[in-house]
Amino acid sequence: MDSQTKNLLEKLSRYLPMCEIENASHIVRGGDGSWYTDVEGRRYLDFSSGIFTNSFGHGDAELARALTECFSTLANIHGRRWEGELEFCERLFRYLPGEDYRVVPFGDGGAYAVDRALAELYYRRGCETYRLAVFNQGFHGKTIAARTLLSHAETAFFLPSGIPAPYCYRCPCGKERASCQMECADLAISCMSRAKTEVFLMEPVLGSAVIAPPEGYWEELGRFCRSRGIALIADEVLVGGGRLGRYIVSQSFGLSPEVILLSKGLTNGLPQSLMLLKREIADHFLAQMMWHYSATYIWVPAMIALMTKVLEKIERESILENVLQRGVQLSNGLSEIQREYPERIGDVRGMGLMAAVEFVRDKRSRTPDYALGQAVFRQAEKNGLELIPGGHILRIGPPLNISEHDMALGINLLEKSIREVLYA
Ligand SMILES: Cc1ncc(COP(=O)(O)O)c(C=O)c1O
Repeated sequence: MDSQTKNLLEKLSRYLPMCEIENASHIVRGGDGSWYTDVEGRRYLDFSSGIFTNSFGHGDAELARALTECFSTLANIHGRRWEGELEFCERLFRYLPGEDYRVVPFGDGGAYAVDRALAELYYRRGCETYRLAVFNQGFHGKTIAARTLLSHAETAFFLPSGIPAPYCYRCPCGKERASCQMECADLAISCMSRAKTEVFLMEPVLGSAVIAPPEGYWEELGRFCRSRGIALIADEVLVGGGRLGRYIVSQSFGLSPEVILLSKGLTNGLPQSLMLLKREIADHFLAQMMWHYSATYIWVPAMIALMTKVLEKIERESILENVLQRGVQLSNGLSEIQREYPERIGDVRGMGLMAAVEFVRDKRSRTPDYALGQAVFRQAEKNGLELIPGGHILRIGPPLNISEHDMALGINLLEKSIREVLYA
């Protein structure tokens, strides 16, 4: 660490919590596309996208213009309609053909949308506490309600119960994917039956450990939920908006959730989320309930203008196609790296441009190797590659418009970092 960085960190340490200072190895100055530069002039390839938010990377002039042009004429018009909403809605609903949803945006992050969705179903059910299922390995944010889901404590709104996720590398039923009969789906169904689940809050692909269910899993669970009248809330805060090569993920698994939540892919990095509610739920509150969907930062014109521009660029620049192509490149690259280090890389997996590398002590025991994960993360930083740390699992989430060249470079830097740590 150079003196300028040390000096700045030293000064910042008077104001920020210690963990924010001790975990900082560099200080960012500016960015451009998939790259950013620190105060020492070093460049970093950003495979973290501000945890999965910067679909178009840094410094996108078109997005900046859309935001500032609108903001220069209009600030918050809380509770009033704005003419620009229509284009936004029309573009968004192109991804929901034949579905009858209504949209409510919030100028807050994903956890807020999760809270609102949980409350929405509570009100829709006539203010009755309901039984709620969530994946044990799921993550829904850090508001009190969202944290409650992690600990499975009881709240007034709902009684949560946990379902083992379809985590093939660490199968909850002790099976191997090649020969299993998808016992994980039966397990989820029996958990929900036992718990008399009424609402299932789920991530169609789980983001915190990048767990994509085996083929047929959602079809089976979807059938079960429909047959029992279990309402689905699809938390697509992370995976929706294009990261997996489709805009709405639950639909591509044949699901038609009562509520869909989007956030990270909406604005290229600014706080925003939205809730898509089935019309029957949204219209439960009639005109006299004027403040029901209100929040201070709902429908802020500049943010709507920015989201509209993001949607326009996704279409115009064929971003979903790029995600699928670069996703294949990433997946092939990670598989190749795993073949080189089969003892220490237990699993590589992903979908589109969300991927994970899982480090283990040895192939047979599959014991998580947290120290190795952390060391590779740090080494990658030194080599100019930003990854997403998470103990023994490193996640990868480059911008959705990443080039073939930068993807190849990132894969090489990751391999180099693993090699340097293992042979140090
Ligand atoms: C699936 C999912 N839901 C909700 C959240 C919470 O979003 P936020 O941090 O914006 O509150 C996250 C954050 O990573 C997430 O991945």
